[in-house]
Amino acid sequence: MKIAVSGKGGTGKTTIAALLARTFMQKGFKVLAIDADPNTTLAFSLGITPEEADKIIPISENLNLIEEKTGVRPGSYGSLFRLSFRVDNIVQKFSVESPVGVPLLIMGAVRSAGQGCMCPANTLIRALLRHLLTKRKEVVVVDMVAGVEHLGRGTVEHIDVMLIVCEPNLKSLETAKRIFRLSSEMGLRNIFSIGNKVCDDFDEKRIKQYFKKNKIPLLGFIPYDEVIKRTDATGGIVDISNPTTGVKSIIRIGERLLEKSR
Ligand SMILES: Nc1ncnc2c1ncn2[C@@H]1O[C@H](COP(=O)(O)OP(=O)(O)O)[C@@H](O)[C@H]1O
Ligand SMILES: [Mg+2]
Repeated sequence: MKIAVSGKGGTGKTTIAALLARTFMQKGFKVLAIDADPNTTLAFSLGITPEEADKIIPISENLNLIEEKTGVRPGSYGSLFRLSFRVDNIVQKFSVESPVGVPLLIMGAVRSAGQGCMCPANTLIRALLRHLLTKRKEVVVVDMVAGVEHLGRGTVEHIDVMLIVCEPNLKSLETAKRIFRLSSEMGLRNIFSIGNKVCDDFDEKRIKQYFKKNKIPLLGFIPYDEVIKRTDATGGIVDISNPTTGVKSIIRIGERLLEKSR
């Protein structure tokens, strides 16, 4: 199963992506977590310290790797570069093992990722993502930015499930709607919204009504959880063997996804 987690910034994508990856791992699946958000933070949610995270070179900044694969060093303009190259050995070489046991691959930022951007870094990342989504057998969880546009056609179709995280506020709901529309237009199926940081019935009703009106399927709710917030504030790993209500809801969402994929 290949899962992409999307949504407005700050809604809880990274938190949820990390906990889903850990849930699948605990259930015995082989899992790979991918940070495809230019502002890379998934490492922290997987228990990697800022000091350790600083030492990880994102794929998009690995000039030697980009040159080795594409034949062009980023920044050297006007050169022709290879469009086909092997990427299957990259995961093994450049993923890092996190303290929670989930291997992590950090893609990094791709500048000017607009349509038709064919810089070497972008070319490598697209090829790598396509490989990860089409050729690998494990569960892949991708922590993304707001949309999927940068994945490009030929790749997005291979995402089995796209989760759009939102909070009970109009801005994140509207963003979720835009992501839903763009993703559907690009050919994605199985797009589900998740209402996160829900405090009360009012929040839940608000989210339910919004998605019903816009015909967007809702997979579940995650309550506002002080422990999740505090763990993030101080750094550290959320306990999943003794889960709080918010963590339990995320585990349940993972289980629901597994049931759907059977
Ligand atoms: N269910 C929740 N309850 C309380 N705080 C949460 C919850 N989910 C996420 N958060 C907090 O919200 C903030 C943003 O979460 P993060 O996962 O980094 O969002 P994103 O990746 O979408 O930018 C973090 O401080 C995180 O701890
Ligand atoms: Mg994030």
